[in-house]
Amino acid sequence: MCEEIRFSTRTIMTPGPVEAHPVVLREMSLEVLGQYDPQFRQIMRRVQKMLKQHFQIPNGHALAVDGSSRAGLEAGMYSLVEKGDKVLIPAYGRFAYLLAEIAERAGAEVILYEKEWDGPFLQESIIDKIKETQPKLVAMVHGETASGQVQELDQIGKYCQENDVLFMVDMVATFGGMPTKVEEWGVDLAVAGTQKCVSVPAGLAFVAWSDRADQIIESRFQKELGLGAEARNERFILSNYLDLSQLKVYWSDTPINHHTEATNLIYAAHAGLRMLLEEGMDNVYYRHKLNEKALIAGLTAMGLKLYGNLETKLPTVNAVLIPKGVDANEVKKFMLDQFGVEIAGSFGPLVGKVLRIGNMGYSSRRENVLHVLGALESTLIRYGAKVNQGDAVQAALNVYLDVQK
Ligand SMILES: Cc1ncc(COP(=O)(O)O)c(C=O)c1O
Repeated sequence: MCEEIRFSTRTIMTPGPVEAHPVVLREMSLEVLGQYDPQFRQIMRRVQKMLKQHFQIPNGHALAVDGSSRAGLEAGMYSLVEKGDKVLIPAYGRFAYLLAEIAERAGAEVILYEKEWDGPFLQESIIDKIKETQPKLVAMVHGETASGQVQELDQIGKYCQENDVLFMVDMVATFGGMPTKVEEWGVDLAVAGTQKCVSVPAGLAFVAWSDRADQIIESRFQKELGLGAEARNERFILSNYLDLSQLKVYWSDTPINHHTEATNLIYAAHAGLRMLLEEGMDNVYYRHKLNEKALIAGLTAMGLKLYGNLETKLPTVNAVLIPKGVDANEVKKFMLDQFGVEIAGSFGPLVGKVLRIGNMGYSSRRENVLHVLGALESTLIRYGAKVNQGDAVQAALNVYLDVQK
């Protein structure tokens, strides 16, 4: 006989997953509804409506795909890209390479435009690259979780809209933590996930797209064999599970059968999106900025330095340079074992150099910020790093007490 699952409570301060909101956990444990139950269809409608609000895409389309965020990226890429299409991917961090990997598998001719991970691109340099390479699609990351940097998008989007180039953006690390103005910025297809600033367990991806993208998606629709389909579409989308043309119909008022919906995860998404709207998006963004300010104050007071350009820093991720002679994995393990606090390392050139402290969703709370700073300071002292002792938590407290005055 297996035992019941038991574990210690954690303070999760990674850049995802984050702690689920208690309301989310409560609502996702409601009884199962079937996906065609009118009660469930109403929940789907409300999720779609909230997604359009969050993505700020009043005139576009939005739905949730089953699978983690990368399922949303695959759905977007596979639905827009056809074999041989040129896709330009400006890369200033790890997740651009995920886009490249997916585009390659979708049959695209991938043009990577790379720079160091310490900051995003100047928008003009991407526009110049678009002029030079003439892609069908530009795909890039809004908030780069690996390095804690954020990319401005509005000028690139404007150029793409005016020059018949599609623009796809990974907003996984920014959605629900800072503004994501999809329509205003000229983004044709945006993707987010649940397990970061929406405070919902992993398992769904959110996808929103413009009418321009929709024309391509619709034109590639092919009804599934076994559902009374005769006609085949020469340009059919290469994935069945992640086919946005089929999923759009599945999410409509006249659904055609597709996958069995993870209905309880949709309740969870409903709760997560609703809690953000109830708090008020300006308040949500302010909370993330305030907790970021307290974290930076604490880390700096400790004597630590942040990686990359502080002017283009992503509010939801803090990439901290590890003091010389200290092993990142040991620090992470000690913090987890002794304090129950989870933080993360990084990827590629930043492995062993950077520790990442998330500031996302329900985990973005004052008590978590103070706890992670105290735990990190004590751990670094244990491992012999020279840090200013006792200053970090005080500096963060000053930030909070200042705004209460
Ligand atoms: C910016 C970004 N894009 C994509 C992903 C992939 O998300 P998932 O692990 O939910 O598939 C992540 C995950 O951390 C991410 O940070």
